[in-house]
Amino acid sequence: MLSELKEIEEKIESFRAKNNKEIDSFRVFYLGKKGVLTNLFKKIGSVSKEERKEYGFLLNNLKVLVKKKITQQRGLVVEDVKIKKTDLTKPVSFKKIGGKHPITLIRNQIIDVFKSLSFEISLGPEIEDDWHNFSALNLPAEHPARDMQDTFFIDKDVLLRTHTSSVQIRYMENSKPPIRTISPGRVYRNEAISSRAHCIFHQIEGLYVDRNVGFSDLKQILLFFSRKMFGEKTKIRLRPSYFPFTEPSAEVDIYWGLNSESDYRITKGTGWLEIMGCGMVDPAVLENCGIDSNVYSGFAFGMGIERIAMLKYKIDDLRLFFENDIRFLKQFSSS
Ligand code: DAH
Repeated sequence: MLSELKEIEEKIESFRAKNNKEIDSFRVFYLGKKGVLTNLFKKIGSVSKEERKEYGFLLNNLKVLVKKKITQQRGLVVEDVKIKKTDLTKPVSFKKIGGKHPITLIRNQIIDVFKSLSFEISLGPEIEDDWHNFSALNLPAEHPARDMQDTFFIDKDVLLRTHTSSVQIRYMENSKPPIRTISPGRVYRNEAISSRAHCIFHQIEGLYVDRNVGFSDLKQILLFFSRKMFGEKTKIRLRPSYFPFTEPSAEVDIYWGLNSESDYRITKGTGWLEIMGCGMVDPAVLENCGIDSNVYSGFAFGMGIERIAMLKYKIDDLRLFFENDIRFLKQFSSS
């Protein structure tokens, strides 16, 4: 009996595992339900009285030895740790840190075009007063044209600006001609949200005031802009329109073409698409800002950034710009 235990001890001592699986089998082989030591423990009753004490003692030692062996071998086994082979000659890959929002991309493109014509950027507050958003722009209280833009009022005289034309006024109040400025920013209107309208969107306003500025200057700048944005062959047309702050006023269309069914749908069968409003700054507006309308004249224009982005990227639902769906945004990421 005791010599049998000696043999077992030697076997345990000489155990070397190549992997964790072998350690598991080792444990089961000795200590499992039908394991070698478990069975020997069961036989303890049949050992003669004289030997029983020593037998029990040795058996316990073997159990401790198995456990020690397991701990020791676990520490030595390395095969399960997968060492990733790194190709040190591979070029560095930069972490993706996201991309610019399509509205930002288009806004920057528009800004770049006007910057190249020496326009500077001006900003104004989103919370405006009545004067800058309406009255100074020839929209006195009760003027019916105020209905063109449903307004979020904060107080009787305080509102969320409905257009970036308010920045025109602020700029003219604070600077003398010659003026060349564009004003990008968020605007707000109390409108039901749909694929074509939203209560928040973005505009860029343009303003040019100097001596002898004429309608032809306006047209030339708009043609230059349209070709930079939509391609060098782009054709534009100006349709007479009405805005209280410009006289004469026009809407600018670009020729989109009629090459597909969707072209017919979005251009209502005409091939032309409106991209912005514009006109010669009404002399009364210049005077409201302390600019002598006998000496100076100017033009202004305003466009919706979403509208330009929808045309450029062929997006037919305005709401996508505000939902922050990563699947949508990822399509514009350049990295
Ligand atoms: N403010 C106008 C709007 O939000 C856009 C606009 C039209 C701006 C004509 C202008 C302009 O400066 O001359 O609908």
